[in-house]
Amino acid sequence: MQRTPLTHVFRALAIVLLMAGSIVAISAYLLAKAPRYPYQDGTLPTDERVQDLLSRMTLEEKIGQMALVDKNSIEQISHVWRYNLGAVLSGAGAKPEDNTRRGWREMVEELQDAALRSRLQIPLLYGIDANHGHGNVPQATIFPHAIGLGASGNEALVERVGAITAREAQALGTPWVYSPNLDLPRDIRWGRVYETYGDDPILTGRLGAAFVRGLQGTSSKTHIAASAKHYVGAGSMVWGSSSNDNYTIDQGLTPADVGALREEYLPPFKAAVDAGVMSIMVALGSWGDTKMAASTYLLQDVLRKELGFEGVIVSDWYGVYDISEDKYVSAVTGINAGIDLVMLPYEYQIFTRDVMRAVEAGDISGSRIDDAVRRILTAKFELGLFDEKEEMGLDIVGSAEHRAVAREAVSQSLVLLQNEGVLPLSHDTRSMRVAGSAADNVGIQSGGWTVEWQGIDGNWLEHGTSILGALYQGAGSTTIEFKRDGRFEGEKADVGIVVVGELPYAEGWGDTPNPELSTEDREAIQNMQVSAESVIVIIISGRPLILPEDSKEWDALIAAWLPGPEGGGVADVLYGKKPFVGKLPLPWPRSLVQLPMRASGKGADGDDPLFPRGFGMSY
Ligand code: BGC
Repeated sequence: MQRTPLTHVFRALAIVLLMAGSIVAISAYLLAKAPRYPYQDGTLPTDERVQDLLSRMTLEEKIGQMALVDKNSIEQISHVWRYNLGAVLSGAGAKPEDNTRRGWREMVEELQDAALRSRLQIPLLYGIDANHGHGNVPQATIFPHAIGLGASGNEALVERVGAITAREAQALGTPWVYSPNLDLPRDIRWGRVYETYGDDPILTGRLGAAFVRGLQGTSSKTHIAASAKHYVGAGSMVWGSSSNDNYTIDQGLTPADVGALREEYLPPFKAAVDAGVMSIMVALGSWGDTKMAASTYLLQDVLRKELGFEGVIVSDWYGVYDISEDKYVSAVTGINAGIDLVMLPYEYQIFTRDVMRAVEAGDISGSRIDDAVRRILTAKFELGLFDEKEEMGLDIVGSAEHRAVAREAVSQSLVLLQNEGVLPLSHDTRSMRVAGSAADNVGIQSGGWTVEWQGIDGNWLEHGTSILGALYQGAGSTTIEFKRDGRFEGEKADVGIVVVGELPYAEGWGDTPNPELSTEDREAIQNMQVSAESVIVIIISGRPLILPEDSKEWDALIAAWLPGPEGGGVADVLYGKKPFVGKLPLPWPRSLVQLPMRASGKGADGDDPLFPRGFGMSY
């Protein structure tokens, strides 16, 4: 058809309209995207953004930012924005109903969306315990507990563990991790020995700083914040002094010894501060007769002024409300002492009401509130929580590559304490017998803080390999028999391996007056002595255990700590594919009389321990 001039006019008009429409649409899009306020503008420096946001906040909104609430105590999702909650945590075992990678991500996203419905759309800081990987999630990479990393003494390894933990935490939407644990355990009766890198301040400082570097990354915009804990002197509590009726030493009293503070307890925290740690968690115990969370001296004079810490000071669990029977007095004392973010972790309504009242009455100054909120907001901006986030695939959580690092960490954590030439296992070994309560139990290997607060006994973890399983995998032509009690029939096997250990536990539940082998395990060892030519004992435990008199007769003895689900790392060393490199990160006492151990490494009785700190054989 012949085109008339009129058709041309219509065509031109249509094009003009289309272009105008597109311009309007693009401008509307850009306008919607454009920051409404300066604090939403990612190109501005953090200080300016913080100042701008702070200047727009009401007192109630500021107080909300100081509340850290356990996700299970949020009564209704609308309370997240109604109370302007600043931070949420998954306290031990507080997991989504669907405890998978997807379930975690969705749970955190739902809470974040709720926070973004608040007037100023301030995102939440979501905190988790990930002291040995994101151990809350069965599919995640689970590393040996810190005591084993302490035995490895390997900073580069610990930095990698931190970096992997960070990537997995980020993929699940959880930007804040409550580790490293920098406590120095002097008493093996304490149930938290395994969370630490040992009792040497220098080693703990080195490894703690490496973990912080790994976790937080070294770029200017960090995505995960670490929290060094438990400030300060936790690990030196007096046996029997716990303020918690159910515990014995955990949450107890650390003598207010300023010499020990300077020489022992502070150096690891100084190392973490120098490494740029973004938050520090205050211990639940007492410094002499003052609750740590109430100590202006420890928080202001020492942590802020002396160590120069600028980040967020967070209290631990019910730490602030343990200060006094009166909740108002507790909140006022804790905040005035220097707590910025209060792990309530339950009653946010009461907290908001009391702190409002305290500011109005002049019991807490407006500038103290501003100071705390400024630090919290700075962390949130630094973590990029206000800005577009990078989407990460869920597949990296528990990837084969990450688990290979966990397996390597297991190998490096093993400490060889005795060896009468029986290790490494010879390729000519024809027959092997295996026994012991911990031989075929990934739950015992993984210890506490694994999916549940107190851990889970048994082989429930899908991707886990028990030590027995790993021995089978590497056995070659060696025949292997297993009997938990070590009672075998027939002629002796060439070698017997007895894997003994502690059932999983966490915190005060693990306090025990008798850290020693169970009768069942001792009998299994004795039974093996008549069933095999030589006997290798492997101890899976969160701490050194007091050994029986006849332990010298065991042909080999290995401290394997709590290696986690990658049992292959133990077999790699037994079969000689990898060397023993681990060294004791704390002294191994000979008897209960030696407790608590002294900083020098000697026992309370003035005698040497059974094995000194730093001891470990090799081949
Ligand atoms: C522990 C902390 C832990 C916190 C949150 C407390 O009971 O002492 O180490 O980070 O709970 O789960």
